[in-house]
Amino acid sequence: MRSNRGNRALMIPAQLVAIVSLFLILYSIFGLTQENLGGARPRVEQGGEELFKTLGTLSVFITAVSYAWYHLKKKRKSPSPLVRLIVKWFDKLHKYTGYSAILLIATHGIYFLTQAVVKKETYTGIAAFSLLLSAGIYGFLIKRLPKKNMRKVHFMLATAFALVAIIHAGGSAIMAILCTIVFWGITELIERSATPAQD
Ligand code: HEM
Repeated sequence: MRSNRGNRALMIPAQLVAIVSLFLILYSIFGLTQENLGGARPRVEQGGEELFKTLGTLSVFITAVSYAWYHLKKKRKSPSPLVRLIVKWFDKLHKYTGYSAILLIATHGIYFLTQAVVKKETYTGIAAFSLLLSAGIYGFLIKRLPKKNMRKVHFMLATAFALVAIIHAGGSAIMAILCTIVFWGITELIERSATPAQD
């Protein structure tokens, strides 16, 4: 009973982040006027936009490496030695790429929050970052605070992040998702070619 309550309590921060993110996205779509788009606090573009946008794009692809782990981890016992090697590498990479993406995106976000004009992307960016950061925190706690739903919440937050990344980053997020799906397809093909045909 108590552990059930503990499991439910664990969901609350994730649910709050999801609600706030949804609110920020809706606000960025329906709530912004010329006035709150920097009208009240005009800022001049500082010229570093391209560099910090590139940092954002790079981070999108780095998060895709972390996300790719979800499908791969089911293949730990694959009959293909190559797939098992890929799985081993992604098992190691998953954590580091996740944390580096958080750091890189924090740099990207801080730049746009402090140096650039407020745009609708500012709000969707905060939403995406909140989801990624909380996915990272739940991921960090998986082994330190073993609870039933920890992995599930971590996965749900990462998936919500991927969806919000499409809204925020557009083409590069779609491209990263497509690359991940193609990569999953390739590992599937490698695995099938290693499995002897049954007749
Ligand atoms: C505090 C969080 C964030 C803020 C304030 C923020 C802000 C912004 C802004 C204002 C832009 C538009 C720049 C422009 O077109 O002039 C932008 C672009 C971009 N952001 Fe973020 N962002 C944040 C988080 C994120 C996250 C979590 C990602 C990863 C999914 C990301 C990836 C990108 C990418 C790839 C672009 C470039 C899109 C393009 O090339 O047009 N950002 N960001």
